[in-house]
Amino acid sequence: MSYGAFETTHAAAEDRYERLAYRRAGRSGLDLPAFSLGLWQKFGTDHPYETQRAIILHAFDLGITHIDNADRYGPPHRAAQQVFGRVLAKDLAPYRDELVLSTKAGNPIGPSPYLKGGSRKSLLNSLEHSLRDLGTDYVDVFYHHRADPSTPLEETAGALADAVRQGKALYVGVSNYSPEQAHEIGELLRAQGVPLLVHQPRYSIFDRSPEQNGLLDTAAADGFGLVVYSPLAQGLLTDKYLQDIPSGARAENSAFLKPDVIDDVYRTRAAALNDLAKQRGQSLAQLALQWVLRRPEVTSALIGASSTWQLDHNVQALDFPDLTDEELAVIDEHGVHGTGLAR
Ligand SMILES: NC(=O)c1ccc[n+]([C@@H]2O[C@H](COP(=O)([O-])OP(=O)(O)OC[C@H]3O[C@@H](n4cnc5c(N)ncnc54)[C@H](OP(=O)(O)O)[C@@H]3O)[C@@H](O)[C@H]2O)c1
Repeated sequence: MSYGAFETTHAAAEDRYERLAYRRAGRSGLDLPAFSLGLWQKFGTDHPYETQRAIILHAFDLGITHIDNADRYGPPHRAAQQVFGRVLAKDLAPYRDELVLSTKAGNPIGPSPYLKGGSRKSLLNSLEHSLRDLGTDYVDVFYHHRADPSTPLEETAGALADAVRQGKALYVGVSNYSPEQAHEIGELLRAQGVPLLVHQPRYSIFDRSPEQNGLLDTAAADGFGLVVYSPLAQGLLTDKYLQDIPSGARAENSAFLKPDVIDDVYRTRAAALNDLAKQRGQSLAQLALQWVLRRPEVTSALIGASSTWQLDHNVQALDFPDLTDEELAVIDEHGVHGTGLAR
């Protein structure tokens, strides 16, 4: 079809803004969809492009305007951004203004000292490369992927702020920072006129770190949003591993989800949570997503998906009644921090 100056094969769903809630990121002016799509796993060259394309387009049709990427995602590193770049060029170019594209730098992507850390050199070079891979002039959010204590925080903050001044990013974020580090870089960024938009921590029924370390409180006090990753604990908070490891599931073949975390302790806890979900007429996945989004500090739940079915299923999570105090207590009983996390 023709769309202004663009030739595209995809006509986005007309009703794409009627499905999801959009939530304000901290005290910024930016709304993000309650669900964001991450391209960490299964968006490398080891999976079929047409499946990847179908998932990305379906997400956009559901109103998932926020796509999370990083220079690291593949395999090999950078491949997921190239996959997204292909879809953007072919299908989504007319909709660029309706997309919030995020990328990250600073997690090692090679042995070079310039392919890791928080230096100005590493961050700004990576961003340039990501823009080429994505085929866009700017990203909406540029993240430092994880804190680098060996680099002065002033240098990292300066590089992030310069990315905005150069027009290569609209907003900046950090990921995997402690609350103290997030507060400190937030202050440095604010002094440069570039407020910290978002922080990206891991948060789920099985990973309570943001509650335990005070990050939720810091986010509320400092005014940044939380885009929480692995809200399904990579699939452990679904019913798929209650019996065995199904063929094709992440735990079958991923360096990040080893089969040995799926033990009897995990299964007992997941089964109890699954029973609660069933009583509520929903799935464990939907319960787990609703649970992270109960917190106002959480702007968006950053999910992965290996099929369009998973997307459809997961976005229905917000169609259920709010969790009651009694149900939250049951979740606390079985949602023990550390369950399923790598040992
Ligand atoms: N900043 C960081 O350091 C960092 C770290 C990790 C992730 N992230 C970001 O967060 C994103 C999401 O992380 P994640 O993939 O771990 O999130 P997740 O939502 O916890 O796990 C997603 C995986 O669970 C399975 N799944 C999803 N819905 C399902 C359903 N309804 N039923 C059964 N299985 C289902 C799928 O895996 P299978 O079908 O393949 O089993 C899917 O890929 C990443 O893509 C990345 O963008 C960031």
